[in-house]
Amino acid sequence: MPSSEFADRLAAVADATEAALARLLDHTARPGETTRPARLIDAMRYSALGGGKRLRPFLLIEAARLVSGRDDLPDGWLRAGAAIECIHCYSLIHDDLPSMDNDDIRRGKPTLHRAFDEATAILAGDGLNTLAFDLLADPETDPDPAVRADLVLTLARAAGIGGMVGGQMLDLAAEGRFAAGRATPLSEAAIRQLQGMKTGALLRAACAMGAALARADADARAALDCYARHIGLAFQVADDLLDHEGDAATVGKAVGKDQALGKGTLVSLHGADWARATLDQLTAAAAADLAPFGDAAATLVAAARFIAARKN
Ligand code: IPE
Ligand code: IPE
Ligand code: MG
Ligand code: MG
Ligand code: MG
Repeated sequence: MPSSEFADRLAAVADATEAALARLLDHTARPGETTRPARLIDAMRYSALGGGKRLRPFLLIEAARLVSGRDDLPDGWLRAGAAIECIHCYSLIHDDLPSMDNDDIRRGKPTLHRAFDEATAILAGDGLNTLAFDLLADPETDPDPAVRADLVLTLARAAGIGGMVGGQMLDLAAEGRFAAGRATPLSEAAIRQLQGMKTGALLRAACAMGAALARADADARAALDCYARHIGLAFQVADDLLDHEGDAATVGKAVGKDQALGKGTLVSLHGADWARATLDQLTAAAAADLAPFGDAAATLVAAARFIAARKN
């Protein structure tokens, strides 16, 4: 698939996700709510709207398209995509807090706690976290309660102790914060585990949720999960490479932080040339995982290339 065609498909999903999030984060109270505090909604909108590549909703929707053969964009898929983007945005808000990475710029604009205040940023993250599961548990997302339970369980596990939150804990511990400031050099296996949890788990969940919405059989789920593992690793190697040699203005966030903190990454362990060669291998492996789907998988194969080559 030509990169311009891929860019158009990604932009279409990103626009639809933006519109869905804008509707869901309306200031008007919804059934079951008495009021929506304006400052909370403003803060949630500040972080969730107007930025981001929307990779996780894109993977979810393209996985559902691949399995189902549908080319339209059902509202339930968009809602599930919005749910995983809510978790992602909440993770970024909390990741940037002074007590976490203490960052000032995110998606090219001041971080939420800088633009608002720290307490509001914590609550906006909490609000996005809970909204995600509200969306998935709602029959509007899928009429089948078993599918909704699958979506909730998949996202909860990917976001929780064994996934993103657990990975963030390992990440902070690796900086040596809890051992008198001494960074502990991590083994390659430990780095891979940390990264698989911190960022890989949500990317895997995106593909698994798309498969669930499309009623994928076990073979299709397994193939998509192998693909998701390969792109998850590629995503993080690319993120570490951008931190290592990217330019803050293009990346839209501070760079050079991993090295400054003595944070072990696969790039710091093996170097940038190894990282680029590994990205090529991972892209090829991800494409091979989807070979059973034939040409129908062209968009997800292009997504793997995009993730490996991304500049922000
Ligand atoms: C960045 O994720 C943060 C990590 C999980 C490492 P993305 O690169 O997907 O960020 P956005 O959503 O496009 O801003
Ligand atoms: C954060 O990892 C991943 C999350 C779960 C949010 P990083 O701290 O490396 O992400 P960036 O570099 O700030 O985007
Ligand atoms: Mg961090
Ligand atoms: Mg960070
Ligand atoms: Mg990073």
